[in-house]
Amino acid sequence: MSTRISDTWERGDPYEQYVGRWSRQVAPRFLSWLAQPAGCRWLDVGCGTGALSAAILEHCAPAAVTGVEPSDGFLASARQNLAGRAALQKGAADSLPLADASVDVVVSGLVLNFVPDPRAALREMRRVARSGGRIAAYVWDYAGKMELMRHFWDVAVELDASAARLDEGKRFPLCHPDALLQAFASAGLGEAEVTSIDIATRFASFEDYWQPFLGGQGPAPAYAMSLEESQRARLRERLRERLPRNSDGSIALVARAWAVKA
Ligand SMILES: C[S@@+](CC[C@H](N)C(=O)[O-])C[C@H]1O[C@@H](n2cnc3c(N)ncnc32)[C@H](O)[C@@H]1O
Repeated sequence: MSTRISDTWERGDPYEQYVGRWSRQVAPRFLSWLAQPAGCRWLDVGCGTGALSAAILEHCAPAAVTGVEPSDGFLASARQNLAGRAALQKGAADSLPLADASVDVVVSGLVLNFVPDPRAALREMRRVARSGGRIAAYVWDYAGKMELMRHFWDVAVELDASAARLDEGKRFPLCHPDALLQAFASAGLGEAEVTSIDIATRFASFEDYWQPFLGGQGPAPAYAMSLEESQRARLRERLRERLPRNSDGSIALVARAWAVKA
């Protein structure tokens, strides 16, 4: 079995089906928790296909929105989705292509755990934020209530013990309230606050749940697509047996994000 899988952020459309659609539901709740005034200059780090930037444009009456993203494929989707309403630039969290103190609010959705050095990224966010500005992020609760992925990895590890080290619940200890607070403190961001944001992730059928894993975008889909056909079929059938099902065949799960602000 494959032992090394990259996180794979290349194609926007399958990502939207897998996680983008759920990030779009977390984003407005996160923004209402931030409660920033109108007229701010916003930066969205790791903007992906534009889920959080779109919510900023819709709900926060910003003066400007900049999105920074390393993936060409995701940037192309963001350009299409945001249709000229945000300035999009290629770049990474630890070397943001922005001047010092050039924005009022720096946000990042579902990214911090993927950057090689989250503290360096947070220090960089601090550099580009004006004094007294806001820095905030959200990540999935991979080890707990991000249920669509939790079920996936629990079954994957049951069938293939070597998948344990790819399990995002284990790979990303940062995705816990205490670890997030500690990361913010160690980057010199001062007093931070954490909250949970739960959204309902309802799938019309098992196929609606399973199909997005076949798009190969993100760690769990990349793992699924690294398997041989027969192994993938075993994983699919075991998940089909395990997932809780309503009488109409739908599957109602919860996805929890941890949000942090300073
Ligand atoms: C789960 S997606 C989240 C995308 C988007 N923010 C959202 O909420 O849908 C993770 C994103 O992090 C980006 N990413 C990975 N490593 C990064 C880095 N070092 N700096 C900035 N972004 C990074 C990926 O390209 C991808 O767009």
